[in-house]
Amino acid sequence: MTGIESFSSEERSFPPPEPFKDRALVTDLSLHEEADRDWKGFWARQALALDWYDEWDTICDWRLPFARWFDGGTLNASYNCVDRHVAAGNGDRVAYHWEGEPGDTRTITYADLLADVQRFANVLRDLGVRRGDRVAIYMPMIPELPVAMLACTRIGAAHSVVFGGFSSDALRDRIVDAEAKVLVTADGGWRRGAIVPLKANADASLHAAPSIEAVVVVRRTGQELPMQDGRDHWWHDVMASAATECEPERMGSEDLLYLLYTSGTTAKPKGIMHTTGGYLTQVAFTHRYVFDLRPDTDVYWCAADIGWVTGHSYIVYGPLANGATGVLFEGTPDFPERDRWWSIIERYGVTILYTAPTAIRTFMKWGTAEPEKHDLSSLRLLGSVGEPINPEAWMWYRRHVGGDRCPVVDTWWQTETGAILIAPLPGATTLKPGSATFPLPGIAAEVVDDSGQPVQAGGGYLTLTQPWPSMLRGIYGDPERYHQTYWSRFPGRYFAGDGARVDDEGYFWFMGRVDDVMNVSGHRVSTTEVESALVDHPSVAEAATVGASDEITGQAIIAFVTLKGGQEGTPDHGQVLRQHVATRIGAIARPRTIVFTDDLPKTRSGKIMRRLLRDVAEGRALGDVTTLADASVIEEIKKRAAAAPEED
Ligand code: WT7
Repeated sequence: MTGIESFSSEERSFPPPEPFKDRALVTDLSLHEEADRDWKGFWARQALALDWYDEWDTICDWRLPFARWFDGGTLNASYNCVDRHVAAGNGDRVAYHWEGEPGDTRTITYADLLADVQRFANVLRDLGVRRGDRVAIYMPMIPELPVAMLACTRIGAAHSVVFGGFSSDALRDRIVDAEAKVLVTADGGWRRGAIVPLKANADASLHAAPSIEAVVVVRRTGQELPMQDGRDHWWHDVMASAATECEPERMGSEDLLYLLYTSGTTAKPKGIMHTTGGYLTQVAFTHRYVFDLRPDTDVYWCAADIGWVTGHSYIVYGPLANGATGVLFEGTPDFPERDRWWSIIERYGVTILYTAPTAIRTFMKWGTAEPEKHDLSSLRLLGSVGEPINPEAWMWYRRHVGGDRCPVVDTWWQTETGAILIAPLPGATTLKPGSATFPLPGIAAEVVDDSGQPVQAGGGYLTLTQPWPSMLRGIYGDPERYHQTYWSRFPGRYFAGDGARVDDEGYFWFMGRVDDVMNVSGHRVSTTEVESALVDHPSVAEAATVGASDEITGQAIIAFVTLKGGQEGTPDHGQVLRQHVATRIGAIARPRTIVFTDDLPKTRSGKIMRRLLRDVAEGRALGDVTTLADASVIEEIKKRAAAAPEED
């Protein structure tokens, strides 16, 4: 057999609601047709939405696996994200409605951003940062974070943002790999009322990070801090003495914009490289068309952290390049109460919400009473990203957050792709719950089988067959690993590492990473499909499945299940769920063992760590647990797994 077998059948579909369509940017296939006729010309026309100092000589120079986009063109990212909106008379427009975890707020206009970005760009120059240097940023979700990023781009330095939830070791590794010259951080960040000691973590990493010459510290949490003379500077001091104006550098389209580290299959994180012109073109295009953005009236909220690529592309670069008004939120959904998000949506009149399935399933677990406490009628579009969204979560999101009136756009992409590649155009595409629908205009995606042959309808591996403007330009310092990881499995194709299925209408359905694919009696079954079936049962809040070795079937499915409302699972209930999966998917997908647990092991960004669950399922010692948000969860699961009944 070839490919990945898929057993799901989802019959529901949702055409664009008429009131939405009446005002939508795109309501037909014209963009797709335009791109199909001439994809390079299509992207060149999208690039003209940016302001260039010099226009490019070539649209796309493709020498597999290295692409160059808009070569010869020059531009500046901070100019495109800030100055041009002020120059167009929109200086008073709000760029960010910022809300801190404790409830403090700030309103940042485009004019405010311009002033701060110029000053901080001068601060960086004063500290010796030059065009081509790298700057590390390790900050909470405060307005100084996008200011620091944009200031780097203004003077032609690349930033490397390290998520504030990472440890000092992780920060050190990233600083060392990038040879960053300056670190921008804060005394701390707020998390559920406690201080995350960012500066103290940074100090611990800097002993072994000799490239850092200076540290700039924002005062956020206010505790006493040791400041190292000659190295450490308070943000407010250096900003006060910096010059107010800073001409943007004219950067080449292919100059490095930023590095962002992501995990691969080895322990060493990969420094994903993104460059300037192509990246900005595609994040601006996708932010505008996938979210049907109207910059003058929408209030857009991407609830991710800027420390991940979602935040880079859809909190900072895409929205600002489009002159959008956004919400920037420092806190967590359940602090001080479980209705925090819904209260933010009501207070700022958020019209577009972009979040992740893990958040949606958490809200499902907490129940509908929380969103019902608030008026969410300002919302007109919902988005999802980060993992496959199971149809039940999609339906819950549409109904209980979107009031059955908002399209839900499931957006597939990766740190490596830089921008969304597969997603609906909400005024034109008929949606199916759980499907990211179709490749966007200008994107060529195909599902292939084990031998690399395209699958017309059915399961297999997601590949991309032509370059796209925001694609990664490589792994920092390791071109061979770049080739090996993405371009060697299927010659001539970019291999994303995801399993996907195309249905008979050409819709794409993601089935999780292929390393999460199980093999039961010679049938490969996607973890996502079984999880989706489990979560589809009214009693289930969240589920994760892994394959464990089984003498008879090769692999057997082990399901870790959290029930709604804190219910305790019983063996009888386990039988009900096994049967439910068998009914939804087929006997082949019926879990051998159901382990009931109050919580699943997750990274700080909310991804379920199936690797650890596989260790539990196989009864072996746990692998690396350092990226786990809460280490006690996995210990409890080990105990419960040992006691869980096995069925045949
Ligand atoms: C992996 C990339 C893209 C920003 C956040 C994650 C999974 C992402 C979807 C989706 C199914 C998805 C894939 C992908 N993924 N979005 N809409 N449907 N799977 O970025 O950490 O680079 O992870 O996330 O498995 O390969 P990332």
